[in-house]
Amino acid sequence: MTTSPLEQLTEQTAELLASIEALATIEALREAEASLTGKRSILSTLQKSLGALEPDARKAAGAELQEARRVVESALEARRVLLLRDARRASLEADRLDLGDVIVSDVHWPLSIGHPGLVALTQRELEDVFVGMGFSVADGPEVESDWFNFEALNIPPGHPARGLWDTFYVELGEPETVVLRTHTSPTQIHLMEHAVSTNTLPIHSVMPGRCYRRDTPDARHLVGFHQIEGLVVDRGISFGDLAGVIETFTRAYFGPDIASRLRPGYFPFTEPSAEFEVTCTICHGDGCRTCSDTGWIELGGCGVLDPAVLEAVGIDGDEWSGFAFGFGVDRCAQMRHQLGDMRALIENDTRFLGQFS
Ligand code: DAH
Repeated sequence: MTTSPLEQLTEQTAELLASIEALATIEALREAEASLTGKRSILSTLQKSLGALEPDARKAAGAELQEARRVVESALEARRVLLLRDARRASLEADRLDLGDVIVSDVHWPLSIGHPGLVALTQRELEDVFVGMGFSVADGPEVESDWFNFEALNIPPGHPARGLWDTFYVELGEPETVVLRTHTSPTQIHLMEHAVSTNTLPIHSVMPGRCYRRDTPDARHLVGFHQIEGLVVDRGISFGDLAGVIETFTRAYFGPDIASRLRPGYFPFTEPSAEFEVTCTICHGDGCRTCSDTGWIELGGCGVLDPAVLEAVGIDGDEWSGFAFGFGVDRCAQMRHQLGDMRALIENDTRFLGQFS
C-alpha cells in the first residue's frame, strides 16, 4: 500500500525535527527554513494539493498540516535562538582582551598615579585636629533653601547683612528660593534641627565643605571655596570656651609659633561676635604686604550663638547655650604653605599640585 504525501510528512516529522537540531550555523538554518516552510517547501506543496480532496478529508488533512507546520516552525525558532546566542558568545570571546598576556616590559614605569589635592589634604588635617579635640565631623548640602542659608541664621529677607554673602540664586517661584550656600553655617541649622527632633543634644561638631559666592576671584578669593564650621551646643558654654578652642586649634594646626586673637566683629547669628585672626605666617608677626603690615591674618568669624538662632531651631536658650565658628580651608592652606595666590589651587598645574603629594 502506498502512503499519501500527507502520511509521509507525519512520519517524517520526527526526522525533520532531528535535522533541525543538527543545524550548525545561522546560514544553514536560513536554507533549511526556506526548504521546509518556504514557497516551494513540501509543506506549501501539500497545502496546495488539499484542494483536490473531499471536504471532510480536506478538513482533517488541513488540521494535520497546520500542526506539522507549527511544530517545524517552533523547532526552527528554538534553534535560531540557540545559534544566535552561540554566535554572540563567540564574538565576545574573540573581542576579549586578555591583559594577562601584556608583557610587563611594555608598561612604561613609573606610572604616574594621582593624589588628593592640597585643599582635600588640608581639610583632612583640619578634621583630624578637631577630632583630636573631641569634635565629630558632619556633612551638609551645598544647595540650600533661603531658610537654612539666611533666615534661620537671623538674616531675614532684605536684611543689609545679606550683602556680605552675595550668592547665586535659583528662583523656583514662591515660596521656595534655592541658593548655592555662601558659607557652611547653614549646616549648623541642620545639625541643631536634627538634634532637637531626635532629642540628642549636646552637639560638638565640625562641618567642612564647599561654598560659593558671587565674588571676583583674586589672590585671596575664589568663587568656589571651602570652609570648616564649628558648633558647640551644651550647658553652661561661654565665650571663654570659644576662645580656648580657637587658640588650641591654632597652635595644633599652625604650630607653637603662631597665635590667635579675637577682634570684635559682627555676624547676625552670633552675639557677641568676633573675627578670628592668626599670626601672619609669612612675616611671623613683624608686618608684611600680605598682612597689610598688621602682623595678623583673618581666617574667619566666630561668636556665642544668638538667642534668635536657638529660637529658630526650637532649642531652649535657658537650658542650652553655645558657640560657633567658621573659617576658610583654602585660606588655611594658603597660610600654612605660604601661597602668594590662592588661584593656584584651582588651576590644575601639576608642577604646583605635585608638591603636595
Ligand atoms: N559664616 C561666616 C562667613 O562665612 C563665618 C562665621 C562667622 C561662621 C561667625 C560662624 C560664626 O559660625 O559664628 O563669613
